[in-house]
Amino acid sequence: MRSDARAALAALATAVLAGGAVAQPADTALCTTCHGPGGNSAAPAVPSIAGQPAAFLENQLVMIREGLRELPAMAPVMRGLSDAQISALAKHYATQPVNYAPGPAKPELMARGAAVSKGGQCGSCHLPDYRGQQAVPRLGGQQEVYLLATMKMYRDAPLPGRDTQMQNVLRGIPDADLAALAHYFSHTGK
Ligand code: HEC
Ligand code: HEC
Repeated sequence: MRSDARAALAALATAVLAGGAVAQPADTALCTTCHGPGGNSAAPAVPSIAGQPAAFLENQLVMIREGLRELPAMAPVMRGLSDAQISALAKHYATQPVNYAPGPAKPELMARGAAVSKGGQCGSCHLPDYRGQQAVPRLGGQQEVYLLATMKMYRDAPLPGRDTQMQNVLRGIPDADLAALAHYFSHTGK
């Protein structure tokens, strides 16, 4: 990664830590490139990070920086960031408003997704409105394609650094039901 870009990111984190106003969009420009303005992704395979619980964001960012969660696209951006800088980024994105436009909801998928979620008690950890809590991510308003791919990954072969409890939760759920869940979550919650 270019050193001027790294310096810009470090400056952002320092500004957030100091409680200063975060000027948009230049300060988070690197993250915005992939995760969208304010962390609201418009790219199907890239997760939104707006409104995610700060603890979840912080954990994931540390794991990505350490290479425990392998994410080649992001690794260069994370390299060299201190824990304090990561905390500042996590706090910043946790307070960004979720601004999603998932397109029209399909009633059959919504009904099926709600039923499967109820059966799997997804709301017990992700909360009934799917906004997430602590180390448990927000699912509401997340990118549908990302959700489906991630659930298949957990169910079939969890990648290093990903939590194994999700494998147990999703075991045996067929592809069609995962697709319904992904559609339902992406259209639910604020
Ligand atoms: C080159 C593109 C790219 C850049 C730049 C980038 N990310 Fe990411 N990020 C991704 C992709 C792709 C994923 C999801 C990978 C996967 O698991 O499929 C991701 C995942 C994440 C996650 C985990 C989200 C979740 O729901 O599991 C967080 C948190 C995150 N990025 C934060 C950031 C922050 C903060 C920045 C800026 C410092 C940043 N990213 C810069 C592409 C990028
Ligand atoms: C026991 C608590 C628990 C339950 C129940 C649970 N989850 Fe999770 N879920 C988690 C945790 C913790 C993570 C973060 C895992 C990680 O760090 O890899 C997660 C991650 C996820 C993710 C990845 C989101 C992202 O942004 O990367 C999806 C999708 C998901 N869960 C879907 C579900 C569905 C669907 C159900 C119900 C069938 C469910 N979860 C039930 C705890 C739970």
